Amino acid sequence: GVTRRYTFNVGMTSVTRLCGTKSIPTVNGQFPGPRLDAREGDRVVVTVHNRMSRNVSFHWHGIRQLRNGWADGPAYITQCPVQPGQSYVYDFTVTGQRGTLWWHAHLSWLRVHLYGPLLILPELGVPYPFAAPYKEVPILFGEWFKADTESVISQALQTGAGPNVSDAYTFNGLPGPTYNCSSSKDTYTLKVRPGRTYMLRLINSALNDELFFGIANHTLTVVEADANYIKPFTVTTLVISPGQTMNVLLTTSASPSSQSQSFAMAIAPYTNTQGTFDNTTAAAVLQYDAPTPPSSTQNLPLPALPRYNDTSAVASFTSNFRSLASAQYPARVPQAVDRRVLFTVGLGTDPCPSNQTCQGPNGTKFAASINNNSFVRPRSALLEAHYQRRYAGVLMANFPTTPPHPFNYTGAPPNNTFVAHGTRVVPVKFNTSVELVMQGTAIQGAESHPLHMHGFNFFVVGQGFGNYDPINDPAKYNLVDPVERNTVSVPTAGWVAVRFLADNPGVWLMHCHFDVHLSWGLSMAWMVDDGPLPNQKMLPPPSDLPKC
Ligand code: C2O
Repeated sequence: GVTRRYTFNVGMTSVTRLCGTKSIPTVNGQFPGPRLDAREGDRVVVTVHNRMSRNVSFHWHGIRQLRNGWADGPAYITQCPVQPGQSYVYDFTVTGQRGTLWWHAHLSWLRVHLYGPLLILPELGVPYPFAAPYKEVPILFGEWFKADTESVISQALQTGAGPNVSDAYTFNGLPGPTYNCSSSKDTYTLKVRPGRTYMLRLINSALNDELFFGIANHTLTVVEADANYIKPFTVTTLVISPGQTMNVLLTTSASPSSQSQSFAMAIAPYTNTQGTFDNTTAAAVLQYDAPTPPSSTQNLPLPALPRYNDTSAVASFTSNFRSLASAQYPARVPQAVDRRVLFTVGLGTDPCPSNQTCQGPNGTKFAASINNNSFVRPRSALLEAHYQRRYAGVLMANFPTTPPHPFNYTGAPPNNTFVAHGTRVVPVKFNTSVELVMQGTAIQGAESHPLHMHGFNFFVVGQGFGNYDPINDPAKYNLVDPVERNTVSVPTAGWVAVRFLADNPGVWLMHCHFDVHLSWGLSMAWMVDDGPLPNQKMLPPPSDLPKC
Protein backbone atom coordinates (compact mmCIF):
# COMPACT_ATOMS: atom_id res chain seq x y z
CA GLY A 1 0.00 0.00 0.00
CA VAL A 2 0.87 3.66 -0.29
CA THR A 3 0.56 6.53 2.18
CA ARG A 4 -2.27 9.01 1.63
CA ARG A 5 -1.87 12.31 3.41
CA TYR A 6 -4.70 14.72 4.18
CA THR A 7 -4.90 17.96 6.12
CA PHE A 8 -8.04 18.95 8.03
CA ASN A 9 -8.17 22.64 8.84
CA VAL A 10 -11.15 22.83 11.16
CA GLY A 11 -12.68 26.29 11.33
CA MET A 12 -15.94 28.18 11.20
CA THR A 13 -17.62 28.92 7.84
CA SER A 14 -20.86 30.73 6.96
CA VAL A 15 -23.30 28.45 5.21
CA THR A 16 -26.80 29.32 3.92
CA ARG A 17 -29.63 26.78 3.90
CA LEU A 18 -33.43 27.20 4.09
CA CYS A 19 -33.02 30.98 3.71
CA GLY A 20 -30.86 31.29 6.79
CA THR A 21 -27.13 31.76 7.17
CA LYS A 22 -25.21 30.41 10.11
CA SER A 23 -21.61 29.88 11.00
CA ILE A 24 -20.82 26.18 11.25
CA PRO A 25 -17.70 24.11 11.92
CA THR A 26 -16.22 22.85 8.64
CA VAL A 27 -13.15 20.99 7.43
CA ASN A 28 -11.18 23.05 4.90
CA GLY A 29 -14.23 25.30 4.52
CA GLN A 30 -16.28 22.48 2.95
CA PHE A 31 -19.73 21.24 3.96
CA PRO A 32 -20.12 18.27 3.88
CA GLY A 33 -16.44 17.68 4.50
CA PRO A 34 -13.78 16.43 2.08
CA ARG A 35 -13.78 12.94 0.66
CA LEU A 36 -10.92 10.65 1.69
CA ASP A 37 -9.83 7.97 -0.78
CA ALA A 38 -7.67 4.96 -0.06
CA ARG A 39 -7.12 1.39 -1.15
CA GLU A 40 -7.16 -1.63 1.07
CA GLY A 41 -3.68 -1.86 2.60
CA ASP A 42 -2.94 1.88 2.38
CA ARG A 43 -1.80 4.02 5.26
CA VAL A 44 -3.94 7.12 5.82
CA VAL A 45 -2.45 10.10 7.65
CA VAL A 46 -4.81 12.96 8.53
CA THR A 47 -3.33 16.01 10.20
CA VAL A 48 -6.02 17.90 12.10
CA HIS A 49 -5.51 21.56 12.98
CA ASN A 50 -8.20 22.86 15.30
CA ARG A 51 -8.75 26.52 14.40
CA MET A 52 -12.09 26.74 16.21
CA SER A 53 -12.68 28.07 19.70
CA ARG A 54 -14.03 24.72 20.89
CA ASN A 55 -12.65 21.20 21.27
CA VAL A 56 -12.98 18.59 18.54
CA SER A 57 -11.99 15.01 17.73
CA PHE A 58 -12.49 12.80 14.66
CA HIS A 59 -13.61 9.19 14.26
CA TRP A 60 -13.00 7.05 11.16
CA HIS A 61 -16.26 5.17 11.38
CA GLY A 62 -15.88 1.46 10.61
CA ILE A 63 -12.07 1.42 10.35
CA ARG A 64 -10.95 -1.39 12.63
CA GLN A 65 -7.82 0.42 13.90
CA LEU A 66 -6.03 -2.82 14.75
CA ARG A 67 -4.00 -2.36 17.98
CA ASN A 68 -4.24 1.33 17.24
CA GLY A 69 -7.05 2.85 19.30
CA TRP A 70 -5.03 6.11 19.38
CA ALA A 71 -6.43 6.89 15.93
CA ASP A 72 -10.05 5.90 16.70
CA GLY A 73 -11.15 9.29 17.93
CA PRO A 74 -14.12 9.26 20.36
CA ALA A 75 -13.37 12.09 22.79
CA TYR A 76 -12.52 10.95 26.34
CA ILE A 77 -12.56 7.29 25.25
CA THR A 78 -9.47 6.87 23.07
CA GLN A 79 -8.09 10.40 23.30
CA CYS A 80 -8.54 13.75 24.96
CA PRO A 81 -10.06 16.21 22.49
CA VAL A 82 -7.92 18.37 20.22
CA GLN A 83 -8.10 21.77 21.89
CA PRO A 84 -8.33 25.14 20.12
CA GLY A 85 -5.02 25.96 18.44
CA GLN A 86 -3.77 22.39 18.78
CA SER A 87 -3.09 19.72 16.16
CA TYR A 88 -3.22 15.95 16.14
CA VAL A 89 -2.22 13.42 13.48
CA TYR A 90 -4.55 10.45 12.93
CA ASP A 91 -2.33 7.76 11.45
CA PHE A 92 -3.85 4.40 10.51
CA THR A 93 -3.63 1.57 8.02
CA VAL A 94 -6.66 0.07 6.29
CA THR A 95 -6.35 -3.67 6.87
CA GLY A 96 -8.67 -6.30 5.40
CA GLN A 97 -11.47 -3.86 4.58
CA ARG A 98 -12.77 -2.29 1.39
CA GLY A 99 -15.96 -0.37 0.64
CA THR A 100 -17.77 2.72 1.82
CA LEU A 101 -17.07 4.10 5.28
CA TRP A 102 -17.11 7.65 6.58
CA TRP A 103 -15.54 10.00 9.07
CA HIS A 104 -17.19 12.33 11.57
CA ALA A 105 -16.48 14.45 14.62
CA HIS A 106 -16.93 12.49 17.86
CA LEU A 107 -17.70 15.04 20.55
CA SER A 108 -21.15 16.26 21.57
CA TRP A 109 -23.26 16.93 18.44
CA LEU A 110 -20.46 18.33 16.27
CA ARG A 111 -20.88 15.56 13.73
CA VAL A 112 -24.06 17.25 12.44
CA HIS A 113 -21.69 19.44 10.41
CA LEU A 114 -18.33 17.66 10.51
CA TYR A 115 -18.64 14.55 8.35
CA GLY A 116 -17.52 13.18 5.01
CA PRO A 117 -16.98 9.99 2.98
CA LEU A 118 -14.05 7.61 3.52
CA LEU A 119 -13.92 5.40 0.44
CA ILE A 120 -11.75 2.31 0.29
CA LEU A 121 -11.13 0.68 -3.06
CA PRO A 122 -9.97 -2.94 -3.27
CA GLU A 123 -6.25 -3.59 -3.64
CA LEU A 124 -4.92 -2.65 -7.07
CA GLY A 125 -5.98 -5.25 -9.64
CA VAL A 126 -8.62 -6.87 -7.42
CA PRO A 127 -12.07 -6.48 -9.00
CA TYR A 128 -15.41 -6.06 -7.26
CA PRO A 129 -17.39 -9.30 -6.95
CA PHE A 130 -19.94 -7.70 -9.33
CA ALA A 131 -19.63 -5.99 -12.73
CA ALA A 132 -17.66 -2.78 -12.46
CA PRO A 133 -20.03 0.21 -12.35
CA TYR A 134 -19.80 2.99 -14.92
CA LYS A 135 -19.49 5.57 -12.12
CA GLU A 136 -19.43 5.70 -8.34
CA VAL A 137 -21.21 8.44 -6.43
CA PRO A 138 -21.12 9.05 -2.67
CA ILE A 139 -24.44 10.26 -1.25
CA LEU A 140 -24.50 11.37 2.37
CA PHE A 141 -27.85 11.76 4.09
CA GLY A 142 -27.83 14.36 6.84
CA GLU A 143 -29.86 16.79 8.90
CA TRP A 144 -29.94 20.58 8.97
CA PHE A 145 -30.97 22.60 12.00
CA LYS A 146 -31.70 26.32 11.72
CA ALA A 147 -30.78 26.65 15.39
CA ASP A 148 -27.33 26.16 16.85
CA THR A 149 -27.15 22.41 17.45
CA GLU A 150 -24.92 22.68 20.52
CA SER A 151 -27.63 24.82 22.15
CA VAL A 152 -30.30 22.32 21.07
CA ILE A 153 -28.65 19.47 22.95
CA SER A 154 -27.50 21.48 25.96
CA GLN A 155 -31.00 22.85 26.43
CA ALA A 156 -32.47 19.35 26.16
CA LEU A 157 -30.05 18.03 28.78
CA GLN A 158 -30.91 20.96 31.08
CA THR A 159 -34.66 20.64 30.90
CA GLY A 160 -34.78 16.87 30.62
CA ALA A 161 -36.96 17.10 27.52
CA GLY A 162 -36.40 15.51 24.12
CA PRO A 163 -34.39 17.89 21.89
CA ASN A 164 -35.92 19.91 19.07
CA VAL A 165 -35.91 18.06 15.79
CA SER A 166 -34.00 19.20 12.72
CA ASP A 167 -35.56 21.46 10.10
CA ALA A 168 -34.58 19.37 7.09
CA TYR A 169 -33.05 16.15 5.92
CA THR A 170 -30.31 16.63 3.37
CA PHE A 171 -28.62 14.90 0.40
CA ASN A 172 -24.92 15.81 0.39
CA GLY A 173 -25.77 18.78 2.60
CA LEU A 174 -28.67 20.04 0.43
CA PRO A 175 -32.30 20.04 1.65
CA GLY A 176 -33.99 20.00 -1.76
CA PRO A 177 -37.30 21.19 -3.24
CA THR A 178 -39.78 19.86 -0.65
CA TYR A 179 -38.76 22.50 1.90
CA ASN A 180 -39.88 26.12 1.88
CA CYS A 181 -37.22 28.46 0.84
CA SER A 182 -35.11 25.91 -0.97
CA SER A 183 -33.88 27.06 -4.34
CA SER A 184 -32.74 24.81 -7.17
CA LYS A 185 -29.23 25.54 -5.98
CA ASP A 186 -30.23 23.86 -2.71
CA THR A 187 -31.14 20.64 -4.53
CA TYR A 188 -28.77 17.78 -5.05
CA THR A 189 -28.88 16.64 -8.68
CA LEU A 190 -27.27 13.46 -9.92
CA LYS A 191 -26.79 13.57 -13.69
CA VAL A 192 -26.84 10.18 -15.34
CA ARG A 193 -26.69 8.63 -18.78
CA PRO A 194 -29.23 6.10 -20.00
CA GLY A 195 -28.44 2.40 -19.84
CA ARG A 196 -25.53 2.55 -17.40
CA THR A 197 -24.89 1.16 -13.94
CA TYR A 198 -24.02 3.58 -11.19
CA MET A 199 -22.84 2.59 -7.74
CA LEU A 200 -24.32 4.85 -5.09
CA ARG A 201 -22.23 4.86 -1.94
CA LEU A 202 -24.90 5.67 0.64
CA ILE A 203 -24.00 6.97 4.09
CA ASN A 204 -26.52 7.82 6.79
CA SER A 205 -24.88 10.66 8.66
CA ALA A 206 -28.19 11.98 10.09
CA LEU A 207 -28.07 12.67 13.82
CA ASN A 208 -31.21 11.04 15.09
CA ASP A 209 -33.17 9.24 12.37
CA GLU A 210 -33.20 5.98 10.51
CA LEU A 211 -34.20 6.74 6.93
CA PHE A 212 -36.09 5.14 4.09
CA PHE A 213 -34.61 5.80 0.65
CA GLY A 214 -35.94 5.21 -2.84
CA ILE A 215 -35.84 6.57 -6.41
CA ALA A 216 -39.05 6.94 -8.42
CA ASN A 217 -39.32 4.34 -11.22
CA HIS A 218 -35.98 2.71 -10.38
CA THR A 219 -34.80 -0.28 -8.38
CA LEU A 220 -31.70 -0.58 -6.24
CA THR A 221 -29.44 -3.61 -5.90
CA VAL A 222 -27.67 -3.70 -2.55
CA VAL A 223 -24.17 -5.17 -2.87
CA GLU A 224 -22.35 -4.04 0.24
CA ALA A 225 -23.03 -3.06 3.85
CA ASP A 226 -20.59 -1.31 6.22
CA ALA A 227 -17.67 -2.08 3.86
CA ASN A 228 -18.48 -5.79 3.57
CA TYR A 229 -19.69 -7.41 0.37
CA ILE A 230 -23.05 -9.12 0.61
CA LYS A 231 -25.13 -11.39 -1.60
CA PRO A 232 -26.85 -8.89 -3.91
CA PHE A 233 -30.59 -8.29 -3.57
CA THR A 234 -32.89 -5.85 -5.31
CA VAL A 235 -35.48 -3.57 -3.71
CA THR A 236 -37.46 -0.42 -4.45
CA THR A 237 -36.97 1.04 -0.96
CA LEU A 238 -34.19 0.58 1.52
CA VAL A 239 -33.75 1.60 5.14
CA ILE A 240 -30.46 2.81 6.55
CA SER A 241 -29.63 3.65 10.17
CA PRO A 242 -27.34 6.45 11.31
CA GLY A 243 -23.79 5.12 11.14
CA GLN A 244 -24.57 2.56 8.46
CA THR A 245 -23.22 2.64 4.93
CA MET A 246 -24.53 0.73 1.90
CA ASN A 247 -23.39 0.38 -1.69
CA VAL A 248 -26.24 0.02 -4.15
CA LEU A 249 -26.23 -0.44 -7.92
CA LEU A 250 -28.62 1.70 -9.91
CA THR A 251 -29.11 0.79 -13.55
CA THR A 252 -30.60 3.62 -15.54
CA SER A 253 -33.27 2.89 -18.15
CA ALA A 254 -32.02 2.47 -21.69
CA SER A 255 -34.34 5.16 -23.02
CA PRO A 256 -36.32 7.22 -20.55
CA SER A 257 -39.40 8.60 -22.19
CA SER A 258 -38.87 12.09 -23.42
CA GLN A 259 -41.32 13.63 -20.94
CA SER A 260 -39.81 12.13 -17.82
CA GLN A 261 -36.13 12.60 -17.94
CA SER A 262 -35.91 13.46 -14.27
CA PHE A 263 -36.93 11.38 -11.29
CA ALA A 264 -37.12 12.18 -7.60
CA MET A 265 -34.85 10.48 -5.10
CA ALA A 266 -36.33 10.65 -1.62
CA ILE A 267 -35.58 10.02 2.03
CA ALA A 268 -38.05 9.99 4.92
CA PRO A 269 -37.67 8.96 8.55
CA TYR A 270 -38.53 5.56 9.97
CA THR A 271 -39.59 5.92 13.59
CA ASN A 272 -42.26 4.58 15.86
CA THR A 273 -42.39 7.57 18.13
CA GLN A 274 -45.03 9.76 16.60
CA GLY A 275 -44.76 13.51 16.90
CA THR A 276 -41.09 13.66 17.85
CA PHE A 277 -39.64 13.89 14.38
CA ASP A 278 -39.80 15.92 11.23
CA ASN A 279 -41.88 13.79 8.89
CA THR A 280 -41.00 15.72 5.75
CA THR A 281 -39.84 13.67 2.81
CA ALA A 282 -36.65 15.21 1.47
CA ALA A 283 -35.95 15.01 -2.25
CA ALA A 284 -33.10 15.16 -4.71
CA VAL A 285 -33.08 14.72 -8.46
CA LEU A 286 -31.89 11.96 -10.73
CA GLN A 287 -31.54 13.73 -14.06
CA TYR A 288 -31.00 11.91 -17.35
CA ASP A 289 -28.70 13.40 -19.87
CA ALA A 290 -31.14 14.94 -22.27
CA PRO A 291 -31.07 17.48 -25.06
CA THR A 292 -33.58 19.63 -23.19
CA PRO A 293 -33.33 19.30 -19.42
CA PRO A 294 -36.66 19.79 -17.63
CA SER A 295 -37.48 23.37 -16.75
CA SER A 296 -38.57 22.54 -13.22
CA THR A 297 -37.77 19.74 -10.82
CA GLN A 298 -40.02 21.18 -8.11
CA ASN A 299 -42.97 18.89 -8.68
CA LEU A 300 -41.48 15.54 -9.57
CA PRO A 301 -43.57 12.67 -8.22
CA LEU A 302 -41.91 11.22 -5.13
CA PRO A 303 -41.19 7.49 -4.95
CA ALA A 304 -43.60 5.58 -2.71
CA LEU A 305 -41.81 5.08 0.60
CA PRO A 306 -43.21 3.02 3.49
CA ARG A 307 -45.17 4.80 6.23
CA TYR A 308 -43.03 6.33 9.00
CA ASN A 309 -43.82 3.47 11.42
CA ASP A 310 -43.75 0.54 9.00
CA THR A 311 -41.69 -1.81 11.15
CA SER A 312 -42.58 -4.84 9.05
CA ALA A 313 -41.15 -3.17 5.92
CA VAL A 314 -37.95 -2.60 7.86
CA ALA A 315 -37.82 -6.17 9.18
CA SER A 316 -38.36 -7.62 5.73
CA PHE A 317 -35.66 -5.39 4.22
CA THR A 318 -33.20 -6.28 7.00
CA SER A 319 -33.78 -10.00 6.59
CA ASN A 320 -32.23 -9.85 3.09
CA PHE A 321 -28.65 -9.26 4.25
CA ARG A 322 -26.28 -12.22 3.86
CA SER A 323 -22.50 -12.24 3.76
CA LEU A 324 -20.94 -13.21 0.47
CA ALA A 325 -19.27 -16.09 2.36
CA SER A 326 -17.22 -17.06 -0.70
CA ALA A 327 -13.74 -18.57 -0.89
CA GLN A 328 -12.31 -15.12 -1.53
CA TYR A 329 -14.47 -13.36 1.07
CA PRO A 330 -15.21 -15.94 3.76
CA ALA A 331 -17.51 -15.12 6.68
CA ARG A 332 -15.37 -15.73 9.75
CA VAL A 333 -18.30 -16.21 12.13
CA PRO A 334 -17.21 -17.50 15.55
CA GLN A 335 -18.77 -20.96 15.72
CA ALA A 336 -18.03 -21.49 19.40
CA VAL A 337 -18.74 -18.90 22.08
CA ASP A 338 -16.46 -18.22 25.07
CA ARG A 339 -18.59 -15.57 26.65
CA ARG A 340 -22.27 -14.66 26.49
CA VAL A 341 -23.44 -11.15 27.31
CA LEU A 342 -27.02 -9.90 27.49
CA PHE A 343 -27.72 -6.16 27.27
CA THR A 344 -31.04 -4.39 27.65
CA VAL A 345 -30.90 -1.15 25.67
CA GLY A 346 -33.36 1.66 25.89
CA LEU A 347 -34.52 4.90 27.33
CA GLY A 348 -35.05 5.66 31.01
CA THR A 349 -35.25 8.64 33.29
CA ASP A 350 -33.44 10.61 35.98
CA PRO A 351 -35.24 12.22 38.89
CA CYS A 352 -35.78 15.96 38.62
CA PRO A 353 -33.55 18.00 40.94
CA SER A 354 -35.76 19.61 43.64
CA ASN A 355 -34.89 23.17 42.58
CA GLN A 356 -35.97 22.58 38.96
CA THR A 357 -38.98 21.74 36.83
CA CYS A 358 -38.23 19.04 34.31
CA GLN A 359 -39.90 18.49 30.96
CA GLY A 360 -39.22 14.77 30.54
CA PRO A 361 -41.74 11.95 31.08
CA ASN A 362 -43.88 12.56 34.23
CA GLY A 363 -41.77 15.53 35.26
CA THR A 364 -38.48 13.58 35.15
CA LYS A 365 -35.47 13.98 32.89
CA PHE A 366 -34.87 11.74 29.90
CA ALA A 367 -31.90 9.39 30.14
CA ALA A 368 -30.82 6.24 28.29
CA SER A 369 -28.94 3.16 29.37
CA ILE A 370 -27.54 -0.28 28.66
CA ASN A 371 -28.35 -2.76 31.44
CA ASN A 372 -29.65 0.21 33.37
CA ASN A 373 -26.23 1.90 33.34
CA SER A 374 -26.18 5.36 31.81
CA PHE A 375 -22.60 5.92 30.67
CA VAL A 376 -20.74 8.84 32.20
CA ARG A 377 -18.01 10.37 30.11
CA PRO A 378 -14.74 10.37 32.09
CA ARG A 379 -12.53 13.47 32.48
CA SER A 380 -9.52 11.81 30.90
CA ALA A 381 -9.20 9.24 28.15
CA LEU A 382 -9.98 5.60 29.00
CA LEU A 383 -7.45 4.23 26.50
CA GLU A 384 -4.54 6.04 28.14
CA ALA A 385 -5.66 4.86 31.58
CA HIS A 386 -5.81 1.30 30.24
CA TYR A 387 -2.40 1.53 28.56
CA GLN A 388 -0.83 2.78 31.79
CA ARG A 389 -2.93 0.44 33.95
CA ARG A 390 -3.99 3.41 36.04
CA TYR A 391 -7.72 3.13 36.43
CA ALA A 392 -8.30 4.89 39.75
CA GLY A 393 -10.36 8.04 39.33
CA VAL A 394 -11.09 7.23 35.67
CA LEU A 395 -13.15 4.04 35.64
CA MET A 396 -15.76 2.70 38.00
CA ALA A 397 -16.54 -0.95 38.61
CA ASN A 398 -17.16 -3.33 35.76
CA PHE A 399 -20.12 -2.84 33.49
CA PRO A 400 -23.00 -5.26 34.23
CA THR A 401 -23.16 -8.03 31.61
CA THR A 402 -26.64 -9.19 32.53
CA PRO A 403 -29.69 -6.98 33.03
CA PRO A 404 -30.26 -5.97 36.68
CA HIS A 405 -34.02 -6.28 36.19
CA PRO A 406 -35.27 -9.20 34.12
CA PHE A 407 -37.08 -7.77 31.17
CA ASN A 408 -40.48 -8.94 30.02
CA TYR A 409 -42.63 -7.40 27.29
CA THR A 410 -45.80 -9.07 28.42
CA GLY A 411 -45.57 -7.65 31.94
CA ALA A 412 -46.79 -4.22 32.99
CA PRO A 413 -44.46 -1.31 32.20
CA PRO A 414 -41.94 -0.88 35.04
CA ASN A 415 -42.96 1.76 37.56
CA ASN A 416 -39.34 2.68 38.16
CA THR A 417 -37.47 3.70 35.01
CA PHE A 418 -34.63 5.46 36.83
CA VAL A 419 -31.14 4.65 35.55
CA ALA A 420 -27.80 4.26 37.34
CA HIS A 421 -24.80 6.33 36.23
CA GLY A 422 -21.16 5.36 35.85
CA THR A 423 -18.06 5.13 33.69
CA ARG A 424 -18.03 1.36 33.43
CA VAL A 425 -16.37 -1.00 30.95
CA VAL A 426 -16.49 -4.72 30.21
CA PRO A 427 -12.98 -6.22 30.47
CA VAL A 428 -12.41 -8.93 27.86
CA LYS A 429 -9.48 -11.33 27.46
CA PHE A 430 -7.71 -11.24 24.09
CA ASN A 431 -9.24 -13.56 21.47
CA THR A 432 -12.41 -14.25 23.44
CA SER A 433 -15.31 -15.03 21.16
CA VAL A 434 -18.24 -13.03 22.44
CA GLU A 435 -21.94 -13.47 21.79
CA LEU A 436 -23.88 -10.35 22.58
CA VAL A 437 -27.67 -10.27 22.67
CA MET A 438 -29.21 -6.82 22.74
CA GLN A 439 -32.81 -6.61 23.88
CA GLY A 440 -34.66 -3.36 23.19
CA THR A 441 -36.74 -2.31 26.16
CA ALA A 442 -38.82 0.43 24.52
CA ILE A 443 -39.94 1.65 27.94
CA GLN A 444 -40.86 5.12 26.68
CA GLY A 445 -42.68 4.00 23.56
CA ALA A 446 -41.41 1.89 20.72
CA GLU A 447 -38.07 2.93 19.37
CA SER A 448 -35.18 1.11 17.71
CA HIS A 449 -31.52 1.75 18.53
CA PRO A 450 -28.74 1.60 15.92
CA LEU A 451 -25.88 0.20 18.01
CA HIS A 452 -22.41 0.93 16.65
CA MET A 453 -19.27 -0.84 17.77
CA HIS A 454 -15.82 0.70 17.49
CA GLY A 455 -12.75 -1.49 16.79
CA PHE A 456 -14.71 -4.49 15.48
CA ASN A 457 -17.17 -5.76 12.97
CA PHE A 458 -19.70 -8.23 14.29
CA PHE A 459 -21.81 -10.89 12.62
CA VAL A 460 -25.56 -10.48 13.00
CA VAL A 461 -26.53 -14.09 13.76
CA GLY A 462 -30.14 -13.59 14.80
CA GLN A 463 -32.93 -11.15 15.47
CA GLY A 464 -36.57 -11.15 16.38
CA PHE A 465 -39.46 -9.39 18.07
CA GLY A 466 -40.66 -9.66 21.65
CA ASN A 467 -38.53 -11.27 24.34
CA TYR A 468 -35.28 -12.97 23.41
CA ASP A 469 -35.67 -16.65 24.25
CA PRO A 470 -32.29 -18.10 25.34
CA ILE A 471 -33.53 -21.68 24.84
CA ASN A 472 -35.20 -21.55 21.42
CA ASP A 473 -33.79 -18.52 19.59
CA PRO A 474 -30.12 -19.66 19.37
CA ALA A 475 -31.28 -22.77 17.48
CA LYS A 476 -32.35 -20.45 14.64
CA TYR A 477 -29.07 -18.51 14.37
CA ASN A 478 -27.44 -18.13 10.99
CA LEU A 479 -23.85 -19.26 11.53
CA VAL A 480 -23.18 -19.78 7.82
CA ASP A 481 -23.53 -16.45 6.03
CA PRO A 482 -24.70 -13.78 8.51
CA VAL A 483 -24.02 -10.18 7.51
CA GLU A 484 -20.88 -8.57 8.94
CA ARG A 485 -21.40 -4.96 10.05
CA ASN A 486 -20.30 -2.29 12.48
CA THR A 487 -23.78 -0.88 13.15
CA VAL A 488 -27.00 -2.83 13.68
CA SER A 489 -30.43 -1.61 14.62
CA VAL A 490 -31.87 -3.28 17.72
CA PRO A 491 -35.42 -3.53 16.43
CA THR A 492 -38.20 -1.74 18.22
CA ALA A 493 -39.77 -4.15 20.72
CA GLY A 494 -37.27 -6.80 19.70
CA TRP A 495 -33.74 -8.12 19.99
CA VAL A 496 -30.64 -8.80 17.94
CA ALA A 497 -27.80 -11.29 18.54
CA VAL A 498 -24.26 -10.63 17.28
CA ARG A 499 -20.94 -12.46 17.57
CA PHE A 500 -17.42 -11.08 17.39
CA LEU A 501 -13.89 -12.19 18.15
CA ALA A 502 -12.13 -9.85 20.59
CA ASP A 503 -8.84 -9.86 18.65
CA ASN A 504 -8.18 -6.12 18.84
CA PRO A 505 -6.59 -4.90 22.09
CA GLY A 506 -7.71 -1.50 23.34
CA VAL A 507 -10.77 0.31 24.67
CA TRP A 508 -13.66 0.34 22.24
CA LEU A 509 -16.83 2.34 22.56
CA MET A 510 -20.20 0.84 21.69
CA HIS A 511 -23.19 3.16 21.55
CA CYS A 512 -26.48 4.09 20.00
CA HIS A 513 -25.73 6.13 16.87
CA PHE A 514 -28.67 8.46 17.56
CA ASP A 515 -26.73 11.39 19.00
CA VAL A 516 -29.53 12.21 21.40
CA HIS A 517 -29.38 8.72 22.91
CA LEU A 518 -25.58 8.89 23.07
CA SER A 519 -25.91 12.21 24.93
CA TRP A 520 -28.33 10.50 27.33
CA GLY A 521 -25.81 7.75 28.10
CA LEU A 522 -26.74 4.84 25.77
CA SER A 523 -23.12 3.80 25.58
CA MET A 524 -20.49 1.49 27.07
CA ALA A 525 -16.95 0.34 26.30
CA TRP A 526 -15.18 -3.00 25.85
CA MET A 527 -11.68 -3.12 27.33
CA VAL A 528 -9.74 -5.79 25.46
CA ASP A 529 -6.45 -7.03 26.94
CA ASP A 530 -3.23 -7.44 25.02
CA GLY A 531 -2.51 -10.92 23.70
CA PRO A 532 0.69 -12.82 24.55
CA LEU A 533 2.54 -12.23 21.26
CA PRO A 534 4.28 -8.96 20.35
CA ASN A 535 1.92 -8.41 17.41
CA GLN A 536 -1.09 -8.82 19.71
CA LYS A 537 -0.32 -5.84 21.90
CA MET A 538 -1.48 -2.25 21.71
CA LEU A 539 0.87 0.07 19.84
CA PRO A 540 2.46 2.80 21.98
CA PRO A 541 0.69 6.17 21.96
CA PRO A 542 1.85 8.78 19.43
CA SER A 543 3.89 11.66 20.89
CA ASP A 544 1.31 14.29 19.90
CA LEU A 545 -1.61 12.56 21.67
CA PRO A 546 -3.71 15.43 23.11
CA LYS A 547 -3.86 16.03 26.87
CA CYS A 548 -7.08 16.70 28.75
CU1 C2O B 1 -19.93 6.79 13.94
CU2 C2O B 1 -18.88 6.28 17.84
O1 C2O B 1 -19.45 6.60 15.91
